[in-house]
Amino acid sequence: MDTEGNPTFEEILSMRRSVRKYSGRSVADEEIEIILDAARVAPSSNNTQPWRFIIVRDSETIERLSKTAPFGTSMAISFIAKAPCVIVCCAEPKAIYHKAVKRFVPADLAFMDVTIATEHIVLAAAKIGFGVCWMGWVSPKKLKKLLDLPGKWESVALLAVGWPERQLEIREPKRKSLSEIVFRESPKIPWGRLEKS
Ligand SMILES: Cc1cc2nc3c(=O)[nH]c(=O)nc-3n(C[C@H](O)[C@H](O)[C@H](O)COP(=O)(O)O)c2cc1C
Repeated sequence: MDTEGNPTFEEILSMRRSVRKYSGRSVADEEIEIILDAARVAPSSNNTQPWRFIIVRDSETIERLSKTAPFGTSMAISFIAKAPCVIVCCAEPKAIYHKAVKRFVPADLAFMDVTIATEHIVLAAAKIGFGVCWMGWVSPKKLKKLLDLPGKWESVALLAVGWPERQLEIREPKRKSLSEIVFRESPKIPWGRLEKS
């Protein structure tokens, strides 16, 4: 913890875990604004800021959102029915920039922009103790219909947000070693020397 009792950046990275069970406590506008403000300052391609966020707290709409998996009901997202809040993260690509770039760069930069901003939300949420789960197993078509998204908007992710049933704690996640994912100069030389023994 820092001198003011807030988790350090490294602690936030270790505390953040996908949380799928929530306490009954509701989520206030002020808390939503804190985590959304972290998204607002995210970097984006050509500073286009194509992210749009819909905060859903109506329990009937959340129930419907929990059924927007590609094949209907799916364990992968059904738990969100019990979340007090779902953030629908969307992109509104800027035609003159994103559409033009897409002709030459295969990556979808608007989608990337929203993904970065969404992770800012996730980390800011971990800092204040929210439990969040990112959901990608969602049909964009169903979501668009359910929320009547404007034609140009594309949904990118759903975030279930709530106060966790059990408090977040600092612990090492199950992850690949640096040697498996980092290479020196070329993919032929793993970053072995940084390995912990
Ligand atoms: C792009 C993306 C999509 C995900 N989709 C789902 C999902 O549809 N349902 C789910 O329960 N978790 C989903 N997750 C959460 C992952 O399963 C989770 O991050 C991963 O297993 C690592 O666990 P941790 O987040 O607790 O560290 C998703 C995470 C990401 C980043």
